[in-house]
Amino acid sequence: MSTTFIGQPVSRVDGRQKVTGRATYAAEFQVPNLAHAAVARSTIARGRISSIDTSAAERSRGVVAVLTHRNAPRLPYRAHKGAVDPVTGERLHVLQDGRVHHQGQPVALVVAETLEQAQHAATLVRVSYAAEPAKTDVSSTEPVLPTHEKTDQGAGTPPETRRGDPEAALRAAPTKVDQRYVIPRENHNPIELHATIAAWDGDKLTLWDKSQWVNNVAEEIAAVFGIDAKDVRVVSPFVGGAFGSALRTWPHVTLAALGARVARRPVKLMLSRREMYYGTGHRPYTDQRVALGATADGKLAAVVHDAWQETSTYEEYSESLLNATRFLHSCPNVYTRHRIARLSVHTPTYMRAPGESSGVFALECAMDELAIALRIDPVELRLRNEPQQDEFQKLPFSSRATREAYRLAGERFGWRRRNPVPGSMRDGRWLIGWGMASATYPMNFAPASARARLLPDGTAEVSTAASDMGPGTWTSMTQVAAEALGLPIERVRFSLGDTELPKAPVHGGSMTMASVGSAVQAACRKVRATALAGADGADMVEAMRRLDRPLEALEEVQPGEQGKGYSKHAFGAVFVEVAVDPDLGETRVRRIVGAYGAGRVVNPKLARSQCIGGMIGGIGMALMEHSVVDTRNGRVPNANLAEYAVPVHADAPPVMDVIFVAEEDPHLNPLGVKGLGEIAMVGVAPAIINAIHHATGKRIRELPAMPDKLL
Ligand code: MOS
Repeated sequence: MSTTFIGQPVSRVDGRQKVTGRATYAAEFQVPNLAHAAVARSTIARGRISSIDTSAAERSRGVVAVLTHRNAPRLPYRAHKGAVDPVTGERLHVLQDGRVHHQGQPVALVVAETLEQAQHAATLVRVSYAAEPAKTDVSSTEPVLPTHEKTDQGAGTPPETRRGDPEAALRAAPTKVDQRYVIPRENHNPIELHATIAAWDGDKLTLWDKSQWVNNVAEEIAAVFGIDAKDVRVVSPFVGGAFGSALRTWPHVTLAALGARVARRPVKLMLSRREMYYGTGHRPYTDQRVALGATADGKLAAVVHDAWQETSTYEEYSESLLNATRFLHSCPNVYTRHRIARLSVHTPTYMRAPGESSGVFALECAMDELAIALRIDPVELRLRNEPQQDEFQKLPFSSRATREAYRLAGERFGWRRRNPVPGSMRDGRWLIGWGMASATYPMNFAPASARARLLPDGTAEVSTAASDMGPGTWTSMTQVAAEALGLPIERVRFSLGDTELPKAPVHGGSMTMASVGSAVQAACRKVRATALAGADGADMVEAMRRLDRPLEALEEVQPGEQGKGYSKHAFGAVFVEVAVDPDLGETRVRRIVGAYGAGRVVNPKLARSQCIGGMIGGIGMALMEHSVVDTRNGRVPNANLAEYAVPVHADAPPVMDVIFVAEEDPHLNPLGVKGLGEIAMVGVAPAIINAIHHATGKRIRELPAMPDKLL
């Protein structure tokens, strides 16, 4: 009987449930006496509601309640910030006053017997506005420094950092590049729409919710309603993708709970695809200047990375655009500045590898431009600037697989056969381009807990409140549990996604395996040791048979001394081949080879799947995704999957090779993992853009690289 499961390509334990439709998503729970809700939304970006007439909506068939700021219960909105909420500002207080802060803000909630009745009645709500001038044109705003020293630019990192004398070094450098890189707003677009079912039982509330963090939903909604978080149960066993859109608790969750309270029965609120462009966050528009100076032998002499991003008027959302710049390549003179532009928009949020995706895009495109200016191979340029340590934190890296990643991915790709001259490689009439970029993402580890129960029938139940938005947490946790328990995998039943289970951190920041996985391992090891201690040398199954009652262990892990004094990040390299149609400007990605040093890989099948997902996400970022904003009013005219293009099967390249650099790093966490979900996205878009330059000689500095930019 083999009980080695970590490192095995185990297929999804929830695969059968998913393909047979037995996996239940938030909107699918069957709750008796359910009413349906629909939202009426602001059609201006800023101002106040001057009048609101709900009489026609109230008279409409099937309507149970119509809530506006005039009649909605006043909610206490106690202070509460989850780890994913902006440090500065206050979340939108929904239906509490007549102020409008952004286009698409909820102004009324209709609860009716059926979904159709609710949706129809919502169209009958008549609203007049006293509009006020609104900043909705991101290109004409003046970015400012955040009001708060603490942003998520990194632990203790102010918005502006300087080492050495970057300005003088840049002036003196014999070779330099100095460019602006623009990434438009993007939306997450998971397949599953955001949805919440809310049901009150006296002062106790149950929420079936699409969420990456059930504990935070309970705490946030408890704070909003002024009740005890213990009285809020949140259930979210399956999540149909999220990419960050379900990290926070958005206003629609409050609306569902509010509707259920007033209607005195359970209420379901599911957002439409269009509503998700106004209510569940987006990757912010970013504008980044990167200036690099180098010596003639290709050593970086100066790095200036000056970036700003959009945020809302009511919260200062910031993301880590500059973190990687401070340590990815070696350089004595580095200046970074992070600013924000406050617009009358809904607050942006984290979207897959937030910060790193955008910041590393600018940096790695600039590195490619520098390599060309220096006439040095792009891989060679990076090798010449490999740092000995994290030069920002002045700490050694716990492990850093960049060299191995460049070598392994480069060999697999055949990089050595590249003719560096742009436009020199062809396949028939297609222009062929080869490009590459580096990737990095931090190892995150947060307190987490798990419970393991051994039963006399020789099976085990292991549980934690963590979510699984798709990477395969159900499966990988079952593997960790089975291995730590020393039981066959079929004997382990795992459960997650419920606040009644032991508390877990956010299912984000690529930290679930490091945190929750370590807790699962600890709980399972403990209960196994207890079982074996009283078993006089019997094996696990025999020891369990002798149990006269279930045996249980609850363990919590937290970052401790382990790894103190090290800079801990995953590193990787991405190589891409594109073909560009010279007449039509269309870019097809033909091959992507990525190599990643991400610590121990628990399940190579799922890990590869995650990396392929990141590669495809990177294709979307480089070539397609763009939430167009109407600068007059903040509307998003392409708020749908017909006009917001995302990659489909036909856009996925036939070759997506994923290589894991073997890495045993004792400084990380008990499981020795770094996380893969987000590094998989980093580096892909710049590698594609660098490949397009190699194919065509055209440098795209504003995403996405649509055909018009290549003609
Ligand atoms: Mo990720 S953006 O932390 O879901």
